[in-house]
Parts: sequence; structure tokens; C-alpha cells
Amino acid sequence: MASHASVSEIARHEGETVVLEGWLYNSRSSGKIAFLSLRDGTGIIQCVLRKDAVDEATFEAARRLGQESSLRITGEAKADPRSPIGFEVSVTALEIVQNVDGYPITPKEHGPAFLHDNRHLWLRSRRPHAILSIRALCTRAIRDYFDSRGYLLLDSPIFTPAACEGTSTLFETEYFGRSAYLTQSGQLYQEAGALAFGKTYCFGPTFRAEKSATRRHLTEFWMVEPEIAWADLDAIMDLTEDFLVEVVGRVVEEGRAHLDVLERDVSLLENVQKPFPRLTYDDACARLEELGEPVKPEDDFGSPHETKLTEQYDRPILVHRFPTAIKAFYMKADPLNPLRALGVDVLAPEGYGEIIGGGQREDDLDVLLQRIQEHKLPQEAFEWFLDLRRYGTCPHGGFGLGLERLVTWVCGIRHVRETIPFPRTLDRLEP
Ligand code: 4AD
Ligand code: MG
Repeated sequence: MASHASVSEIARHEGETVVLEGWLYNSRSSGKIAFLSLRDGTGIIQCVLRKDAVDEATFEAARRLGQESSLRITGEAKADPRSPIGFEVSVTALEIVQNVDGYPITPKEHGPAFLHDNRHLWLRSRRPHAILSIRALCTRAIRDYFDSRGYLLLDSPIFTPAACEGTSTLFETEYFGRSAYLTQSGQLYQEAGALAFGKTYCFGPTFRAEKSATRRHLTEFWMVEPEIAWADLDAIMDLTEDFLVEVVGRVVEEGRAHLDVLERDVSLLENVQKPFPRLTYDDACARLEELGEPVKPEDDFGSPHETKLTEQYDRPILVHRFPTAIKAFYMKADPLNPLRALGVDVLAPEGYGEIIGGGQREDDLDVLLQRIQEHKLPQEAFEWFLDLRRYGTCPHGGFGLGLERLVTWVCGIRHVRETIPFPRTLDRLEP
């Protein structure tokens, strides 16, 4: 009996007869020979079917197979220097599980709306395959980073009683006669975790009702959020830097084949080395003024500011001490200048902009209470959070990295929606 093989591991079967199961990616044929490109999810291999290897009906059927027909192919794995993967299969038997007629995604160019409508099928194409493989690799590198450094994985809840990142992007849902909100960030729960375990992280889906369609915003995205007790802003900035160097380094090392499919200039990712430039919000504003992209006084950066600023650097930059007034309620004000918050945004180079937001948390009960009032947040919903300041408060901080923003940058692509298997945006809930 021939053994099953996958395309990615075909080299182990050189000279053997193997069974491959997959889908027809492409084909061409003459009267005597058919070349079937078989895709099995791990790779694509050319299978050569000679007319005399099978009965006449099978050979004729093979010549008329449609794209994405499902096939079981038996044949000999042969080394072939002309093949991009170094091997091809000389077919001895072909089982047509389904002959497909009219697969919608043909090798011609399709527009993004059509491709996203057919996302469930588009996943089979080379580009999404490469991008989503890089995503999985990023996820693994991120988990390994924290798991190997003593952070406990502590999952934050998805249903929450209150806002973490402002009330304007909350998704509200009915919850047994009261309101619940889909989580915008797991941070507040990680703060409880850090005071219990020292260092924790969560890595899961988060939700924001983003009412504008941009290439950086999804309504459902994945965030990794570490939180550390006894950490100040400097420690958090050091952490973001060390973390990005390691994660990007591993993806470059292990994901090169996928990055090649995307024609990513890997040398730009190899620049991601310490130290990252650090500048205060006020310095960044002065720089933006010079660059002809001024920020309104005390205002947040918009995409054009982030793009302009990051184009000036070959690696990520850390912008810290934004105006307290425009930042989340939990950020600690700088004791040296309370108008500035001990927060940091990490902006990715090449115009990609913010990928990380984080900083030091307000650890004083009275100040935090005042901030909750200023932000018009319901204090009852935060009583548990305030307990963290009543019982053993200490300096602490953390950050949140948006996985899709990271993958967009690493892959060097334009739009964040290609980096998640089934994107959710203002105008898309399907498929
Ligand atoms: O800067 P943000 O809002 O920070 C927080 O949520 C903190 N509570 C995190 C923390 O300190 N634990 O979001 C963090 C990151 C952003 O830098 C961005 O990468 C990503 O989450 N992000 C989004 N990604 C895709 N679509 C959106 N709508 C996003 N909103 C934020
Ligand atoms: Mg932010």
C-alpha cells in the first residue's frame, strides 16, 4: 500500500509511491500527457500523467478537470531540478473525487470586493495563504516570548460591564435583561492578574465599533496584552522594544518563504534592532511641524501624522507622554507634568503607524476616582477595579499590540483586513 504524503514533506518520499490528496490548482495537457498542479494546503506540486499510465476515460477526464477539483493521486515522487520545490510526481492512478465546474476565483485579476465576498474560497490562493501563515507564525512567536519569560497566560473575559477604551466604540449587547459590552481590551483584568501573579498576559479577540472605514481598523481584532506589577513607563518601553525585536526576528527567520511570496523586502525587517528612537509627544509635534504635517495643539495624531513621522525612520519609534486629556482614564499622569501621561505608542516604520499602545497605570485611588468621573464612566462598574488600588496598590503597567497591525507591517501590505481570516469591518459581516 502506498503511504500518504504531504507536498511539504515530499522530499522524505523520494523514489517511493505515495498518495496525495488535494485540489487542482492549474493544469495543461496535450494528447499524450497532462500536467496537473496539485495543491494540498502545504504546497503545490506538479503531477505528470502520461496517457498510457491510466485507462483512456480517466486520461480524458483528467484533461477536462476544472480548477479546485478534488483529487486523490497515486504516483512516484521524483526529484526534478526544474521544479520550484525540487520534486514532481509521476502519476500511476488518479481518483477524481469531484470534478469542479466554474470555480469563481480564476487566475485573472479580481477586485478586492469580489475577493472578500469569496473569502471562504480566496483562502486557497497563494497570497492569503502566505499572509495567514505569517499571522500564525507571529502568534506563535508572541506566545513563546511571554511563555518563556514567566508571564502567566490569563484570559480576559469577552463580555464586560463597562468601557475600557472610551464609550464611543462600544458594542452593546443584551445580557439577561441588562447591558453588556464586547471587550475593547483585556487590560483591566490583566491589572488584577499582575497583582496576583506578577506578570500576566492575555491574547484574544477584542471589539471596537469603529464607525469609519480605514485600512487600519477592524471591528474585531486580536490583541496581546502583557501586564507587569512594579513596572514603570521606562520598563514598559524597554519591553515593547525587546518584544518586537524578538518577534520580528523570528518571523523573518522562520517565515522567509511566505515573505518571498509577498515580495516583502526583508532587509527592512532586519533593521528592527535595538535601540528604537524614543521621542516625547512634544518633540514629535515639533518634528511634524517641520515636516509640514502640524498637529493641532494638544490633539491626538491622525494617520497622516503617523505616516509622515514614521517615514523618517528605519525602525519602530516610541512616542511617549501624550496629553493626559486625550488618553484613556487609567493612564498615570506624569508627576513632573500632569498634563502629560505616562503612556507610549509604538509606531511601525514605512508609514505603518501605531501598532502598540501602553504605559504606566494610575495607581492612586483618589486620582483614579477623579479620572473615572471626568470621563463620565459609571463608577459602580469599576468598583472591582478600584479595589486593586485599595488593596496593595503598586506601580504597574503593560501594553497592547494589535496582531493584525503587526502582520500588516511585517507582510508589507496595505490593508489590515487581509491579515485576519474573516475580517469584520464597518461594511462587512460576511462571510
Ligand atoms: O492603543 P489601544 O487602544 O490600547 C489599549 O487598548 C490598551 N488598553 C492596551 C494595553 O495597554 N493593554 O489599542 C492597542 C492596539 C493598537 O495599538 C492597535 O495596534 C490595535 O490595538 N488596535 C486595532 N487594531 C485593529 N483595528 C482596530 N480598530 C484597532 N484598535 C486598536
Ligand atoms: Mg492607541
